[in-house]
Amino acid sequence: MNTSSRTLAACAALVACLALVACAGDSVFESEEELGEALFHDPNLSLNRTMACATCHDPERAFTDGRLDDQGRVRPASLGDDGVSLGDRNAPTAAYAQLTPEFAYGARARHNKQNQHKLYEGALGGLFWDGRALELEAQAGGPPLNLLEMGMPDEAAVVARLLENEDYERAFVDLYGADIFDRDDEAYAAMTRSIAAYERTELFAPFDSRYDRSLRGDAVLSFKELTGKAVFFSQFANCAICHQLYSEGDPVNETREPFTSYEFHNIGVPANEELRAQNGVTELDDGLLDNAGARGPGERGKFKVPTLRNVAVTGPYMHNGVFRELRTTLEYYDHFNNPELRALNPETGAPWAPPEVADTVADELLRVSDPLADHEIEGLVCFLRALTDQRYEHLLADDGVDCSD
Ligand code: HEC
Ligand code: HEC
Repeated sequence: MNTSSRTLAACAALVACLALVACAGDSVFESEEELGEALFHDPNLSLNRTMACATCHDPERAFTDGRLDDQGRVRPASLGDDGVSLGDRNAPTAAYAQLTPEFAYGARARHNKQNQHKLYEGALGGLFWDGRALELEAQAGGPPLNLLEMGMPDEAAVVARLLENEDYERAFVDLYGADIFDRDDEAYAAMTRSIAAYERTELFAPFDSRYDRSLRGDAVLSFKELTGKAVFFSQFANCAICHQLYSEGDPVNETREPFTSYEFHNIGVPANEELRAQNGVTELDDGLLDNAGARGPGERGKFKVPTLRNVAVTGPYMHNGVFRELRTTLEYYDHFNNPELRALNPETGAPWAPPEVADTVADELLRVSDPLADHEIEGLVCFLRALTDQRYEHLLADDGVDCSD
């Protein structure tokens, strides 16, 4: 090979190389997670192009819906893409949802220190308040086609929106194969896979709250936080029966406690009449009974126990957002065992409204605690605030409780 042909060959190699680099660099999304992040934030997946997953699961607000009503209060349920439809359930956090087991009936031994109620037999896990989506992929396929939410008519229409974006088209082909757009259902399923992959990233489960830091020795809980922690995990308050998955002192799992057992219970939450007056819903929310896998009418009114991580920054509370303040939820629990001191709902000034579904309330778990003193309620507020991921600590409202001592 003479000098010039060598130069030529080197040149050709360089050009091929550059082309390759250009090709690889061309794909804006290098992984399912990156593609999923873009999709999660893309309003083009809704009919009027006004709303994305992130609208109702805002990463700045622990992946919940912080949009306000005309009185400046966070709405108990989400407005849809059409600007008028109003749902009937509070958008739960998508943070830590990656820890949720697939929906199934089964038995679980409760790992807390309680001697009673050791075994739970019933429904466990799944996504949504009623567990009706088996896993994150199935969940992610719901909102785009939900008329009250993103409002797209069918999968084909969503896939057509994906194809408007060349970067998506290229990424889908790279990640899922050249024929991925041959069938709409397969392209749609691929979309749900990338969104789920994004929801499984560490961004959604940083485990860096004050509570987590205290387990690692990087923070020291205050006296009030410790009081709340002791109450929370004690048999006097029973919170852990439902809101704890792993046993205390389990070195592998304690650091990844989701603060839910993924069991389903009816804790007697009243209907949200104010919301119902706005969204016009008249029928009962059947809870778990809405899940096609539910076993019979005994499941009516039960809801999946929610995670308590970031709960202090994700109000309003319960499946229908009926309580605005965290403290109210604690007084609500205490009213079962402390009826005189907690006779009134502090938000309405009236007696607690009756349960929406009365006949399945878990009295055997709710009416067996000791009454809580005010400083114990305050301790619980402080403990729950200590479950806030570090990047949301600035959101903790100054609600009159000083948890620092
Ligand atoms: C209009 C608001 C809205 C939009 C848009 C929306 N969601 Fe939701 N999301 C909700 C509500 C409300 C629920 C609870 C509904 C229920 O339980 O029936 C929910 C439930 C969830 C859950 C279940 C959490 C758990 O622990 O059970 C996840 C995860 C989730 N959404 C992710 C998404 C993703 C991904 C998208 C986009 C594809 C999305 N959401 C779009 C309002 C919304
Ligand atoms: C019998 C099981 C059970 C027990 C005991 C229990 N919880 Fe719950 N908790 C639930 C369920 C189920 C929900 C959701 C109920 C609904 O929306 O209808 C819930 C909701 C909550 C919420 C609102 C979360 C949100 O995001 O809306 C808080 C806060 C809470 N519980 C804290 C506690 C504390 C603190 C204790 C102890 C005093 C406790 N729970 C005891 C099952 C239980």
